[in-house]
Amino acid sequence: MKDKLKFTSLRKLDHLRICAEKEVESGDAGFSDIRFVHNALPECDMGSISLATRFLGHTFRSPLFISAMTGGHPGTKNVNARLARAAAHCGIGMGVGSQRAALENPELADTFSIVRDEAPHAFLVANLGAVQLRDHGTGWAEQAIEMIAADAIAIHLNFLQEAIQPEGDHNATGCLDAIGELCRELKTPVIVKETGCGISAATARACWGKGVRAIDTAGWGGTSWAAVESVRADESASAKDKALKALGQDFAGWGIPTVISLAEVLATGGPVIASGGIRSGLDIAKGLAFGADLCGMALPLLAPAMESDEALASAIDAIHRELTVAMFLTGSARVADLRKAPLYLTGRTRQMIDKDNPARIRK
Ligand code: FNR
Repeated sequence: MKDKLKFTSLRKLDHLRICAEKEVESGDAGFSDIRFVHNALPECDMGSISLATRFLGHTFRSPLFISAMTGGHPGTKNVNARLARAAAHCGIGMGVGSQRAALENPELADTFSIVRDEAPHAFLVANLGAVQLRDHGTGWAEQAIEMIAADAIAIHLNFLQEAIQPEGDHNATGCLDAIGELCRELKTPVIVKETGCGISAATARACWGKGVRAIDTAGWGGTSWAAVESVRADESASAKDKALKALGQDFAGWGIPTVISLAEVLATGGPVIASGGIRSGLDIAKGLAFGADLCGMALPLLAPAMESDEALASAIDAIHRELTVAMFLTGSARVADLRKAPLYLTGRTRQMIDKDNPARIRK
């Protein structure tokens, strides 16, 4: 049992190292198929553009959301602390990584609770896997929320990763009902998020039907957990684990591209966080113009968060500068104006979204 607990925690460190050092991105989220209509007479002052926006009743100084990444090993505490300081400083929201390790071993709770210490007023999102929720019930979710005094909890769906992980949980039955029970029993808003494969209209409808308050697409085109697990399998000493390397590589192409997932989820309701492969302020501008309420980024913030507060602040500044320029050049003084900015949609994304596309088979 003790070994199992240690294993969950060590895996967290493995994930950080692999994501920081190896090639773990796969695919195309679809943002290159979106192009703004340039406004040559924008009639607004770039110096007074406001990035402020609202989500789940909270006001944010910017629509950038720091997606769930870490915690659960003593070596991850610093990274969470830096991310939280940046969230507090910039007035943005932040998610922590899966809190399973600290729920199994309370000695690790400070690797998560540090975020509330560093960001007493920020919008913070707790995180638990759907499988852990099903197996341990609402009690674990309540403990996860309490651990960081969270404003919301994200239940993550990661069945591609589970399928490839040597120690993965291959039984996905009962998770939707567990999410429904959580929504009924909890006052704190429940967000359902994927982890790189996107959410379809059908899954979104099932979630709204259970009382879920927001959906985070975490679509394909950014960090690929198939790729991460493929690297882990390759590094393993066991021949049985090594055999999973090819499975991971084969499935690095699996998933709904983020822009498509965004369109599918928006067709069923909202609010929606667009994430998965968002790599710049311009991508954020496109996500918002497409209809997202917030835009989440994980991997691009990891290396600067592992380096220093200054590196992270400068990465976030660059993202905000780009978003501001995109707003200026579309004549958008406010995020609400950007949502109305006209777009061109081209390529595969257009094909996949087009309702009359004969290649789009609906069942
Ligand atoms: C993640 N992600 C993640 N998601 C989650 O719900 N719980 C978790 O514990 C983690 N852990 C984690 C660790 C690291 C190092 C990374 C890079 C990512 C997934 C993350 O929140 C996001 O959904 C995807 O990474 C897609 O976004 P990017 O990375 O393409 O911007």
